[in-house]
Amino acid sequence: MSVLLPSRRDFLVFSSICSFASICKGGAISDISKAALGGQVTNTDSVFNIVAAPDSVQLGPQGHQPTAMWCFNGSYPGPSLRVRRGDEVQVKFINLLPEPSSIHWHGIRLLNAMDGVPGLTQPPVDPGESFVYKFVCKDAGTFWYHPHLNSSEQLGRGLIGSLIVEDDTETEVDHDLIWLLSDLRLDQKGQIHESFGSIHDQAHAGRLGNVVFINGSLSDSWSVPYGGRIRLRLINGSNARLFRLRLNGPSVNQVAIDGHPVPPRVIREADVLAPGQRIDLIFDLHTAEELEIEDHGNPDRAYFLAKIGIAKPSIGRGQWYGQNLKPLPANDIPQFQITEIPRLREIPLVLSGGAMSRQMSPQSVWQMNGRAPTMGHGPDHFGREPLFSISLNESVVLKLINQSAWFHPMHLHGVVFHELLGSDSLGPARDTLLLAPGQQKRVVLKAEFLGDWMVHCHILEHQHSGLMGYFRVSA
Ligand code: C2O
Ligand code: CU
Repeated sequence: MSVLLPSRRDFLVFSSICSFASICKGGAISDISKAALGGQVTNTDSVFNIVAAPDSVQLGPQGHQPTAMWCFNGSYPGPSLRVRRGDEVQVKFINLLPEPSSIHWHGIRLLNAMDGVPGLTQPPVDPGESFVYKFVCKDAGTFWYHPHLNSSEQLGRGLIGSLIVEDDTETEVDHDLIWLLSDLRLDQKGQIHESFGSIHDQAHAGRLGNVVFINGSLSDSWSVPYGGRIRLRLINGSNARLFRLRLNGPSVNQVAIDGHPVPPRVIREADVLAPGQRIDLIFDLHTAEELEIEDHGNPDRAYFLAKIGIAKPSIGRGQWYGQNLKPLPANDIPQFQITEIPRLREIPLVLSGGAMSRQMSPQSVWQMNGRAPTMGHGPDHFGREPLFSISLNESVVLKLINQSAWFHPMHLHGVVFHELLGSDSLGPARDTLLLAPGQQKRVVLKAEFLGDWMVHCHILEHQHSGLMGYFRVSA
């Protein structure tokens, strides 16, 4: 039980940020609906303005010094955008940061020009400039957004937000909650630690934060206004942290991965949630029940993340759904016949470098297929050949080979893919797949959209220092 585990504050805050932590011992209860809905924007015509700018955020309780961050619309995380499947979303992005930026819509299958990758799909949005993103959300599910320039620093200073695409038919739940999980590296004063660009972070496990947040909050006690069926959408928006969530309490079904529905399955421990990935859970909470969530991402430093209970007194009443949990309605994504797979072209993608490898040097921390991109994210970054090319509507097998001693959540833009499990089954549709040290995985995908698409590690310090490139889909 979680009683044996240290709390998030004891572990992450106390150990490194004493002054910050001593004020954080309050144990305030967050009303989930308030916290989740407070920063939420639903807009019937799906037109949004998003401004990226420096701001200060009250990360600790009142009375503590606010943290200087970079924010979307003044909050951490940025506004949670909610749209409906099939909507045309229009976002005017205004950059008031001291450096160029962009927004990438992680997991959304859209036209290349709207993918938000400066130097590859659009020019950088310079300070004081704006860019209008327009795209149709074909898939319902849990997605998110973030800049795609100097990502380690821009996300590490706070630029993340969730994008929820609702299905046209309501999924039957009483509460639809989003937990955008993240961590920040803070200094003794609770300010963003300025250690960006650290070669040590790049060559090891990335920029791990020392404080873990749920929707920007430190609260470890959350409540819904009344019992009933709850959908919990988990998004890992941290630079480098791997979460492995253990669930104690009512039985919990995993219903979607990376936004796409999977057959409901009761789980006690969720799959590792690596940076960029999402998992949707559904569970029922009845009187006096609580779901307790622990993070065993680092088995030696497991901690109690948070619990979800029912507000006392509760206001209102949930429905009774019985034991039946219907799968979420499927998205219209490419389907594969297992028999066609042996005939597909196989493309290798070798990841090498990092600490403890012979390939590593300060000029080239990581390589993809032996090639080290130039450091940094200038538009010249892409003035080179794609890692591989695919014809439009061609299906291929991509063989990801991790020759390094480190974990890499590999993310592909513009496609969803399935892992090949053994010779006769396919894993769930994903956009980000975790490779353990030394591991190889084969995935199958179909190129549906023309253009140049990123493929990179979502540990942003690895991405920055070489684990990034692009593939070309041509007619
Ligand atoms: Cu979440 Cu290339 O990004
Ligand atoms: Cu990596």
